[in-house]
Amino acid sequence: MSKILVTGGCGYIGSHTLVDLVENGFEVISVDNNSRSNPLILDGVERITGKKIKNYKVDLCNFDDTYAIFQENEDITGIIHFAAFKSVGESVAHPIMYFENNLNSLLNLLKCVQEFKVPYFVFSSSCTVYGNPDVIPVTENTPPKPAESPYGYTKQMGEQIISEFSKVNPTQCILLRYFNPVGAHPSIQIGELPIGKPANLVPAITQTAIGKLPQMQVWGNDYDTRDGSCLRDYIHVSDIAHAHTLALQYLIDGRTMKSCEVFNLGSGNGVTVLEAIKAFEKVSGQQLNYVIGPRRPGDVVAIYANNEYAVTELGWHIRFDLEDMMDTAWKWEQHVKQDESFFHRQNAKLN
Ligand code: WQD
Repeated sequence: MSKILVTGGCGYIGSHTLVDLVENGFEVISVDNNSRSNPLILDGVERITGKKIKNYKVDLCNFDDTYAIFQENEDITGIIHFAAFKSVGESVAHPIMYFENNLNSLLNLLKCVQEFKVPYFVFSSSCTVYGNPDVIPVTENTPPKPAESPYGYTKQMGEQIISEFSKVNPTQCILLRYFNPVGAHPSIQIGELPIGKPANLVPAITQTAIGKLPQMQVWGNDYDTRDGSCLRDYIHVSDIAHAHTLALQYLIDGRTMKSCEVFNLGSGNGVTVLEAIKAFEKVSGQQLNYVIGPRRPGDVVAIYANNEYAVTELGWHIRFDLEDMMDTAWKWEQHVKQDESFFHRQNAKLN
């Protein structure tokens, strides 16, 4: 059984990927310092899979502590690296914190990958590397443009670091560029747990609908899109998670001749903010309380994926549509409210 180290395993996409890996026969361990995640999410992973996942509560910016994990697990076949700060707005306010955390953790990890000769490495990248694309949909060959934030730069620099690393090391690497991951596992046992006021659209919608937020703002409706609001490619988090399992299998099966491959992980459908809200209102049966606000600095106007390479090369079949995304997100928000004291207590400990 191949042992996979998942960094950021207590996070949103990390926890969903743990589930998918276990369900597909992989042995998994997690490393997560829980600075931005709730360790209780692993209880949800256990309820779904029946497996108790070991988490090393280690900061990957500490080389010695990171190295010790590899000494204890010399049989690691592959790594999926999620652990990073990911708030666009926060990165603008705290650029050094973002460059230090996101790059030092990656460099420490790669030093260990090199020393312990880990065969496979999958990196959590992002469509933010495309900046504001001139032509959409974007393919993996669409040239990256200047990032819109320090966060976006850490993803672009991370890709370059890994690409150069893979040229002089036997480790085969894959860069997965996510579009907008949303929704929750169909079991409603795991989902997104934003810390503080959510910056992202779908948690802002569900927290407004459940009454945690008094009202939501649509950041601008005067863009050059079909209804004036920004256009994005929303993709269910469980579809994103399964793509990681397929990417690992692709490497293990030796189906690539390249040292470093890139895949777009998007649905291939462009959806505007106002269309996303309408889809939510349809599945929830609720009228959302929102107003049109000013544009948000740094927002990309319109982007969505050409995902054909991931579909054909990885055999990736997307299972969830926009209404499924909204339905599971809404059900998860209602679940968290039932356990409000429980999750709130834990999140309070994290702050
Ligand atoms: C989507 C649209 C907002 C909140 C995200 C992540 C980033 C990266 C890419 C992973 C925008 C609008 C939002 C609100 C709104 N993911 N919006 N009111 O900016 O595309 O970036 O995906 O690497 O880490 O942040 O996603 O959900 O923040 O915004 O109108 O209250 O929704 O203006 O047009 P974004 P988002």
